[in-house]
Amino acid sequence: MQIHINEEKKQFHLTNGQISYIFHVMKNGQLGHLYYGKALKHRDDFSHFQRYDVPTAASCHPYRDDPAFSLETVRQEYPVYGSSDFREPAISVSNPNKSHIPAFQYYSCCVLEGKPVLEGLPATYANDPDEAKTLRVVLKDDFLNAELELSYTLFKNKPVITRSAKVKNNGEENLIIERMMAASLDLPDKEFIFTHLAGTWARERHVKERVLEMGIQSISSIRGASSHHHNPFLALKRPTATEHTGEVYGFNFVYSSNFIMQVEVDHYDMARLTIGIHPFGFKWNLAPKESFQTPEVVMVYSDQGLNGMSQAFHQLYRENLIAERWKQVERPILINNWEATYFDFNEEKLVNIAKSASELGIELFVLDDGWFGKRNDDTSSLGDWHVDQRKLPNGLESLAEKVRATGMKFGLWFEPEMISPNSDLFREHPDWAVGMLNQPSTLGRNQLVLDFSRPEIVEYLYGKMSSIIKQTGLSYIKWDMNRNITEAFSAKLPACQQGEFFHRYILGVYHLYERLTNEFPDVLFESCAGGGGRFDPGMLYYAPQAWASDDTDAVERLKIQYGTSFAYPLYSMGSHVSAVPNHQTLRKTPLATRANTAYFGTFGYELDPLKLSDEERQEIKEQVAFYKKYRKLIRDGQFYRLVSPFTGNEAAWMVVRDDRSEAIVGWYKVLATPNSPKHQTLKLVGLDQEKVYQVNGLKQMFYGDELMQVGLPLPTEFNGVNGNNAKRGGDFQSEVFYFKQV
Ligand code: DGJ
Repeated sequence: MQIHINEEKKQFHLTNGQISYIFHVMKNGQLGHLYYGKALKHRDDFSHFQRYDVPTAASCHPYRDDPAFSLETVRQEYPVYGSSDFREPAISVSNPNKSHIPAFQYYSCCVLEGKPVLEGLPATYANDPDEAKTLRVVLKDDFLNAELELSYTLFKNKPVITRSAKVKNNGEENLIIERMMAASLDLPDKEFIFTHLAGTWARERHVKERVLEMGIQSISSIRGASSHHHNPFLALKRPTATEHTGEVYGFNFVYSSNFIMQVEVDHYDMARLTIGIHPFGFKWNLAPKESFQTPEVVMVYSDQGLNGMSQAFHQLYRENLIAERWKQVERPILINNWEATYFDFNEEKLVNIAKSASELGIELFVLDDGWFGKRNDDTSSLGDWHVDQRKLPNGLESLAEKVRATGMKFGLWFEPEMISPNSDLFREHPDWAVGMLNQPSTLGRNQLVLDFSRPEIVEYLYGKMSSIIKQTGLSYIKWDMNRNITEAFSAKLPACQQGEFFHRYILGVYHLYERLTNEFPDVLFESCAGGGGRFDPGMLYYAPQAWASDDTDAVERLKIQYGTSFAYPLYSMGSHVSAVPNHQTLRKTPLATRANTAYFGTFGYELDPLKLSDEERQEIKEQVAFYKKYRKLIRDGQFYRLVSPFTGNEAAWMVVRDDRSEAIVGWYKVLATPNSPKHQTLKLVGLDQEKVYQVNGLKQMFYGDELMQVGLPLPTEFNGVNGNNAKRGGDFQSEVFYFKQV
């Protein structure tokens, strides 16, 4: 792992044998981009990568007085707008009293061992200084008296670079930042498929693809959360790349609020990617001596297709994002009472659920929404974080003790960022809600949002939550967020600073997470936002698992979990077995298929165990035992997508242990097909081709090469007449296969 700095030519080459990232100082003192991709041999001079061709005739806008140089045609590192580059810039910063086009000129650079923290922001980290190197490049704009610091961290043995930017006001006057991206990347051509994860509530992170064309294509959120609608993830995939071959660039923004990921293809087919806080509505007042730090972008390069990209993200997040204390811990199998009871429960009912679940081997009982204030439905009490004595007259402590007496841990739901208009907290502090004072605010799920940009409100929530954690001895918290932000104003910010609201809000959320996770390191946090509305790496930094979706229907979950796996490791995806008919789709899928899908995540149940038949209880006992046996493999193994649920009636995926000695495969068929092909096989990947594998402990053995080249024979399907021989049939079939090297 090397960061080469050519002082004379002012070139920078970051390389670790897997990737190279090269840029330089251009003749006008600004930074030009030279190369990003598969590792290149280092050499003394890379300047031949930058072409200063000036466009001809009518479209010619040479830079200042240099006829041989135009910003319109060069690839840049962190561009500005206004002096011959007509593409959208990385930064727009000004002094409100003086006209000026920013021109950040190279000033200095340094290399740091490891990776410095981003104050107040979630970010990837190096476990020790040898694991990463950070290049810091400082640029200055003397007119603005501003300093721009670009940070590039290269990780050892990973095809990963992270980038962020910081601007500092060294002058005596206020500056205004109107746009500040975490990274900008000018790719030399547009031959990519823009691949992203889109959806809405109950169908989050579906894979979408479109061909890049001249013009701007982007995904974004201006909802105050990373959102159900667009995940802050983008892959630029070569048209010939597949799941396992070819070139893919993957990007993930470590941020949980408004963002933009945009590709602008210009008239010369160059593709400019910009990633950062969404500039719409954003305006940051930078007082003298203050600085503004962007969140970071994780950039992955893969020459092994989409799956290679995903594995790089997974490995980075497992090793360098999720908090140290959760890396090796086996996450508890949980039961959540939400779909079992909704708001209608009392202590007896909950304790009975807990007892019954504990007999099945389940390890954690989670009490969801409805335990506080006077909450019988979603129209009241958010903010009143004290137990609802009508439902739980003996208090939370008593319930927690009774749950623990069954052998299970106890966890609790909170929605700290919200306030119901019908709550004591709102009656006492109407100005604590986000909105314009004395003007109507839009309700979402009958609730308003608490103004987390105000430190005193965050402090109040800290007081409430920390005392409940202590008194109740919580082992787990589900932190929900059930609406997006409208009328985004803070009663405490002056009008000229309202453009800071969204970022200040999420900094408040991060601050509360930081304090609680530091003070209670053994409490497992699961983030949630009406299902998977804030499933992003920013949240994973604090909460190592996230509720993937409110949609627990096994068929729907195939798409949700498949899409989520593009960037996020299996062990971050909360995935539960729920009752049928499913509460979101009314579909009835077999219990086995529900579990076979949910195993590939952090496993749990979302149903009333008292309503199960004896056969179902027996089946669930076996499921729980199965997950306990294999959860380490699911946590640590390499994940491979095999068959996409977006392209047909089937889906499949597998997890392989690093040493390839074991693997688990999940295969799913949504609808039955009559008289289907007789010799159906499933081709596997990632195994050792020389080794022999035993499947499900049965007699039949296969070489790894057979399983990968010929495929695993799937059990015979019912074809209309072979009732006695058929091993599977009907809609919503699935199989899980366990492979062990012999
Ligand atoms: C939305 C979550 O996604 C659900 O699991 C549940 O916790 C409800 N909120 C409770 O209001």
